[in-house]
Amino acid sequence: MSLRAIVLAAGRGTRMKSERPKVLFEVAGRTLLSWVLDAVAGVSPDEVVVVVGHGADEVEATLPAGVRAVRQEPQLGTGHAVMVALEALGEVGGDTVLVVPGDTPLLQAETLRALVTAAAGAPAALLTAVMPDATGYGRVVRLGEKVVGIVEHRDATPEQRAGREVAVSTYAFAGAALAGALAGLGRANDQGEYYLTDAVAALAAGGEVRAVPVADPAEVQGVNSLGQLAAVAAEVRRRLNAAWMAAGVEMPDPERVYLDAAVALEAGARLYPGVHLEGRTSVAAGAEVGPEVFAIDSAIGPGARVWYSVLREAEVGEGAQVGPFASLRPGTRLEAGAKAGTFVETKATVVGRGSKVPHLSYIGDATIGEGSNIGAGTITCNYDGREKHRTVIGNRVFIGSDTMLVAPVEIGDEATTGAGSVITRDVPPGALAVERGQQREVPGYAARRAKKAPKKE
Ligand code: UD1
Ligand code: MG
Repeated sequence: MSLRAIVLAAGRGTRMKSERPKVLFEVAGRTLLSWVLDAVAGVSPDEVVVVVGHGADEVEATLPAGVRAVRQEPQLGTGHAVMVALEALGEVGGDTVLVVPGDTPLLQAETLRALVTAAAGAPAALLTAVMPDATGYGRVVRLGEKVVGIVEHRDATPEQRAGREVAVSTYAFAGAALAGALAGLGRANDQGEYYLTDAVAALAAGGEVRAVPVADPAEVQGVNSLGQLAAVAAEVRRRLNAAWMAAGVEMPDPERVYLDAAVALEAGARLYPGVHLEGRTSVAAGAEVGPEVFAIDSAIGPGARVWYSVLREAEVGEGAQVGPFASLRPGTRLEAGAKAGTFVETKATVVGRGSKVPHLSYIGDATIGEGSNIGAGTITCNYDGREKHRTVIGNRVFIGSDTMLVAPVEIGDEATTGAGSVITRDVPPGALAVERGQQREVPGYAARRAKKAPKKE
């Protein structure tokens, strides 16, 4: 006997009001479908089939290796989706068939395991939940304790609608029983669809359909609208952040920390409100991030301080400082103890150990050695209108404020540039380069001017 899993992901998701297939909306940086596929993988099925239809090409492109797509065209309902999947699966007579919707990202593998276990020896087991608001869900219909069917919200009587025990499109079926029940499905309902829920009623007529209740209805909360997407994202955030806090990451206000699932944090990191960490971003022990930081695919080293800043594919070394109001663009690496301070933009730049770019600078396509200081307002003029060129700055260099470094240009170790200089030629090590008009003083200027044109009172 083997376990086969079917994930339902062909529906249009009309209420999302979007061209994007519903299952490709993201929560914590992963698609709804990938969350579900992860939970399914957790019960180690022998085969996983995803039923695709609306936006099939796009959905298929996201499937991991080993997961098969089958196309349901046209989409004639959940029962029809399972029929199409069974056709692709072939003989399932002696197998257990797990059916899971593609839009419930909080579903846990252990819940699916309990469902599969409950189905042993029965024609079917279904996951149920007691929803605070059951609107839109199919209601579980019981005769005494016995599950006799599921009635869709739209087809339910007022008494049935008053019930809050719902079915959540998650089932484990005995293969042969499922195939038999599907063969008997009709489309005589409000939507003219084949309802998988009707197969449950048919199976209940001939055997015991077991209900497996989930402890927390949030786990099976589906996404049908952007409002529900936000609600599910908030729940994922609560869970992720609680897990990180339990692992030693400090968050004074976890409601306002937004982490992708792939983010890696070390115990002893501290995340202030307004922190958004996306992609493969990491934060090491002792680092303080935020308030208000957006970082994607970036690494923040031990003891670093980053606040009010944007980081994209940037590396911040041990004890380095970023912000407030810095923008570190791809290819930026701040080595240990380096600084990119207030209103500083960097790109494809290495700032060496202990070197500082404290204020109002653009540093792009540059290498800065160790212990150098870049004066306020310095700009690497890296673009000549056609091509980008590099600026190389050595160790213990002092770049005066408002220096324009016209690339390609190289500033040797321990060199100095005078404030306001436009540097177009290489500066040898230890030299001072100044490029500016001579200053002149005109004594008594104010008095002369006052005589010529007295100030009007
Ligand atoms: C379905 C269930 C309902 C349950 C609710 C939430 C039926 C008839 N109703 O209603 O009992 O409470 O989900 O779990 O089953 N899909 C396909 N092909 C189709 C139609 C749907 O693959 O032809 C997929 C969708 O992509 C989605 C899932 O099946 O992942 C559920 O479809 P949806 O349209 O959301 O069903 P509901 O009306 O919410
Ligand atoms: Mg639904």
